[in-house]
Amino acid sequence: MHYFLYREGELYCEEVPVRKIVERYGTPLYVYSAKTIKRHFQVFDSSFKEIEHLTCYSVKANSNIAILAMLCKEGAGADVVSGGELIRALKAGISPQKIVFSGVGKTPEEMQLGLEAGILLFNVESAEELEVLSEVAKKLKTKAPFAIRVNPNIDPKTHPYISTGLKKNKFGIPEEEIIDLYKKAKDNSHLQPIGLDIHIGSQLTQVSPFLEAVKRLKELWQELNHLGFEIKYLDLGGGLGIVYESEEPPLPEEYSSAVIKELKDLPITLILEPGRVIVGNAGILVTKVLYTKSSKEKNFIIVDAGMNDLIRPAFYQAYHKIIPLEDKRDEEIVADIVGPICESGDFLAKERKISKVQRGDYLAVMSAGAYGFVMSSNYNSRARAAEVLVEGDNFFLIRRRETIEELLALEVIPDIYL
Ligand code: LLP
Repeated sequence: MHYFLYREGELYCEEVPVRKIVERYGTPLYVYSAKTIKRHFQVFDSSFKEIEHLTCYSVKANSNIAILAMLCKEGAGADVVSGGELIRALKAGISPQKIVFSGVGKTPEEMQLGLEAGILLFNVESAEELEVLSEVAKKLKTKAPFAIRVNPNIDPKTHPYISTGLKKNKFGIPEEEIIDLYKKAKDNSHLQPIGLDIHIGSQLTQVSPFLEAVKRLKELWQELNHLGFEIKYLDLGGGLGIVYESEEPPLPEEYSSAVIKELKDLPITLILEPGRVIVGNAGILVTKVLYTKSSKEKNFIIVDAGMNDLIRPAFYQAYHKIIPLEDKRDEEIVADIVGPICESGDFLAKERKISKVQRGDYLAVMSAGAYGFVMSSNYNSRARAAEVLVEGDNFFLIRRRETIEELLALEVIPDIYL
């Protein structure tokens, strides 16, 4: 079931023509389908129903508080990587006992925030971080529940910028150092070792690297179990890929059944941190054609969304399908679809076959629900896009467009220049 579909030549999000939303709120505009997000969450979460588990939506993929609140109602927990994300998750109503705090560079202040909120656990990524966590817990006269993130040296076979489980990556702690760290923590009255964690990368399109990761976790769990540790949580991270173009990622069911097979006999709760698979294909970025121009070599379609709105094509050479809001079935051309920013890297698509569009037409950049708005910036003093959530035949503005006044409000001219 798809919620972004043409009806009589016009693109709809659920029951609403996208043009109607765009006429109200302008472009560039992110539009999300609530039903898609809920369905993705339910399909993913229920595929693990055979075992004890907690699905902690990875907030970084799309952190709009309305989306977090909706996922909270669906039963989701949260995987956060900063004090900011933690505050968002709590404000959205997610129970602290369903929140895990990941990330390679947590500050003592962020740890304090997590401890005071009473989160489920911290995923720790270095021996020094563990020491600081223990100091912060001591200061607060409490005990910090933690898992250690293993760097298993597994190749996830994805884009190098989003692969995280190789020795050369900055993430996690090498397998051979893990047991010693737990042993050290055992005698520390401010640390509570309760989990083991792994996350090997994002946009994975095969089950095998996941399976290898689970096996490593299981071996480490067994070793720790022999040593008398009660490790209750195994956190497998996120990473399940989606279809942008012609990828064939495993279905949640295929991923989960492989994982369940390995873990079903262990007395643990499995934690999952899916991001992209929940929201990626639930959002589009709508942009307006500002100009077209053609030379002997090339056609350009210049649109009002730039790399500041969606950086994925420029940053990862990522492919996003681009379709017109009105399917006119016109003659097709091959064009670069580019933004207004003064950088050659500012493109949404290169050498793309697309129906001939004109000034004023609208285009939808598909699969932009994950790592879209959240990675946007104000480069070239561009105010960030608005975000709208569609549910059935309703739509809600969930983040209004920024204004230039708001951007300037943070800046100060020192007296000497006045
Ligand atoms: N858990 C951890 C510890 C992570 O680092 C990530 C993503 C996730 C979970 C969620 O992964 P997902 O299920 O979304 O693959 N900006 C890049 C993706 C960066 C992913 C960073 N970590 C992109 O646009 O492709």
